[in-house]
Amino acid sequence: MLGSYPIIKDGVRDKRKQQRAKALLLMNKELMEKNDKIDYVSEIKRLKQKKNAVILAHYYQTGDIQDIADFIGDSLALSQKAASTDAGIILFAGVRFMAETAKILSPDKKVLIPDMNAGCSLADSCNAEDFKKFIDKNPGRTIVTYVNTNIDVKVLSDIICTSSNAIPIIESLPSDEKILFGPDRNLGNYILNKTGRDIVIWDGACHVHEEFSLEAILKIKGENPEAKIIVHPECELPVRMVADFIGSTSALLKFTKKDDAEIYIVGTEPGIIHQMKKENPGKKYIPAPPKDSTCGCNECSFMKLITLGKIYKCLRDEEPEIRIDAEILKKARKPIMRMMEISEKSGL
Ligand code: 13P
Ligand code: SF4
Repeated sequence: MLGSYPIIKDGVRDKRKQQRAKALLLMNKELMEKNDKIDYVSEIKRLKQKKNAVILAHYYQTGDIQDIADFIGDSLALSQKAASTDAGIILFAGVRFMAETAKILSPDKKVLIPDMNAGCSLADSCNAEDFKKFIDKNPGRTIVTYVNTNIDVKVLSDIICTSSNAIPIIESLPSDEKILFGPDRNLGNYILNKTGRDIVIWDGACHVHEEFSLEAILKIKGENPEAKIIVHPECELPVRMVADFIGSTSALLKFTKKDDAEIYIVGTEPGIIHQMKKENPGKKYIPAPPKDSTCGCNECSFMKLITLGKIYKCLRDEEPEIRIDAEILKKARKPIMRMMEISEKSGL
């Protein structure tokens, strides 16, 4: 698969549609269960203080959640914060692999996630058994995996990376080192093009970032020629090719701050626009539209399973809690610590 650009398999797309439908069902159920009698914001603040808890939120969370969080960030920044916090409880407003990473980095802390169903279609596109077969078929390669993986895949890895540090991590390896990268084929292809390294790539993808429509993006650009297109590296190659800037969620946010354009077409989950607007209120941000204009599938249905009501209940009951078998935690910690060390050395 070296240097090639894999074609999406129908089976994979169908499976992702099913996962998305399942997440949407759960989301609707949550809406029906909504109890408006409680002032969630003040109750969450009270419980946080009482229990010495910290709320870490990803940029794809809804604005109301970002506004009550103690810290908002991308996967790398959230991992670094989880590793350094003094709080006794970490409540993770994000998806499961992020909360698991927090637990691995802070094993003595109680790590809570408001909804255990908050998975990740990208992590689920890489099953550990099949990934092991892929590794066996490509012997002698260093296994670099994206943090968006389930823990049994992390255990098989030599180094973990995020979208913020993927390039420095690959470049920290000797130039003749052969690499196997998974699970995101788009990030893998982006890294391969940027570094020119010998990389074989697992054929996985995210259901949000592969949905952006190149045609719709170009139409918006045609109507707003001064707009800049900024996208996440999980987007498909044709979308990345028209981008003015490619980066992790925090890199995109930083770019809109220092760049002098007034309008941006944003090719990632639109939750990030909440921070972009807060930090640069004078600018205009247009979410990149999905291929199917009726589905709203540029939103991550897993991220959106987290609600203020669930955060309140989770802090109150201290459940659901992330629990990881000690032996598995130890094995998964090794490649994550390698990532943390390389990131620190690279000044990230
Ligand atoms: P970032 O690390 O760039 O925030 O990405 C996380 C993610 O899940 C992207 O889909
Ligand atoms: Fe996973 Fe995609 Fe959601 Fe990111 S946007 S958490 S990769 S499903």
